[in-house]
Amino acid sequence: DLRDYGLSAAHGFLPETLPLTRLPDPYYNKWEAIAANLQALVLSRRLRGIIEKLPVLSTIGLEHESEWRRAYSLLCFMLHAYIWGGDSPAERIPEPLAVPLLEISQHLELPPVATYAAVCLWNFKPLFVDEDIDNLENLATLNTFTGSMDESWFYLVSVAIEARGAPIIPLMLTAMDAARHGDAKTVTECLCVFAERLTDLANILQRMHESCDPTVFYHRIRPFLAGSKNMAEAGLPRGVVYEDGSGMEDFREYSGGSNAQSSLIQFFDIALGIEHRATGEKPSDNPAPHHDPSQRHNFIREMRQYMPGPHARFLDDVAQVANIRTFVEECGDRKLSIAYDACLAMLSAFRDKHIAIVARYIITPSRAVRARSRSRSPEVTRQRNNIAVASRKNQAQGQKGTGGTALIPFLKQARDETGEPAIEDW
Ligand code: HEM
Ligand code: ALA
Repeated sequence: DLRDYGLSAAHGFLPETLPLTRLPDPYYNKWEAIAANLQALVLSRRLRGIIEKLPVLSTIGLEHESEWRRAYSLLCFMLHAYIWGGDSPAERIPEPLAVPLLEISQHLELPPVATYAAVCLWNFKPLFVDEDIDNLENLATLNTFTGSMDESWFYLVSVAIEARGAPIIPLMLTAMDAARHGDAKTVTECLCVFAERLTDLANILQRMHESCDPTVFYHRIRPFLAGSKNMAEAGLPRGVVYEDGSGMEDFREYSGGSNAQSSLIQFFDIALGIEHRATGEKPSDNPAPHHDPSQRHNFIREMRQYMPGPHARFLDDVAQVANIRTFVEECGDRKLSIAYDACLAMLSAFRDKHIAIVARYIITPSRAVRARSRSRSPEVTRQRNNIAVASRKNQAQGQKGTGGTALIPFLKQARDETGEPAIEDW
């Protein structure tokens, strides 16, 4: 049953019951008030002081899972605003934030950092509850760092993709079952529907351009999404310390938020039998026997640790029974092979559109900053640029994803691996 894995038949990896817009227990009113006013508190430089003076609230008032999720989302927004919302990044997370966040993330089996779950999966509401949530026009966010439409839109495009993609989950489970019973006709039908849906998803992805401005994204939104891993140049050489009151705390490092943490897209890969290798590894690479492959950096795989526990377990279990690719290879049925190849082509096309987005939203604005700083002294740049803090951080981040990958080489490899196992030669 999908529900055993925290999935919803109608909404997929989005929660079955809509995210709470507020924690019901007034005990948590302070968290709600801070999260609702993040932008003003960051701009007026009051956020850090206010968080440091908060009482250390207990998690005892959290009952339903939806309350735990709401609390996680609130505290993750507060955490990243705390770290990145000053002149230099904060290295130490004070107890009022760290203690409850550590408990809540442990409960949800997530890292204590703003994951895709915190900012997308559990951070939306429908404008009209009787209308579908796979429609961008019917969606709004609950929390943002900047209060901008651009930021809401950035998250909501993902929410709409999750919602529109949700029916693919039962569909492909049906296909796997049919493959087990040698029913090529059903598998073919499922693959055709899958390919069509993938086109829908690519069309939603393309709508990013409508209401999320690349300059706003790059300079104002993106800096808040950064994690604490490999962030030396941005001012966090050792990561961050979560003060839990033990006095024995160590520095920890986490990747920042990234859609690579979407279970839906990883489900597609698993269902189609697409394998992603460690970054830089080619299909022909024959690792020497002494070289343990698990030691190499497989970012996509690693991102499963940034998914809610039950969702990650779902992917692991589906991987155990995924049989479609083998079935297609062994069947030698032409219609089946064509349907399978169409899915690969559509998923590659989705990744192509995504690469174009990364070029426009990250590469182009980062080049513009570099060109500007070459033509002016840094001091002048800083004075003229009222978004200088974010810009400087961004530049330091260089050409790296918030998840920490080398952007384009990583994404192109993922795209190429999608196309690789093509079975039918056209
Ligand atoms: C990975 C950027 C929107 C799906 C990545 C990565 C970057 C990136 C830089 C590399 C991982 C990292 O280091 O963070 C962007 C930008 C976006 C955007 C700038 C919009 C402005 C989306 C959306 C989706 C998506 C809406 C849809 C679900 C993915 C996936 C990966 C990824 C699945 C993992 C790589 C793969 O499977 O091909 N993204 N992304 N991204 N992104 Fe996006
Ligand atoms: N992962 C996306 C980025 O690197 C959000 O900007």
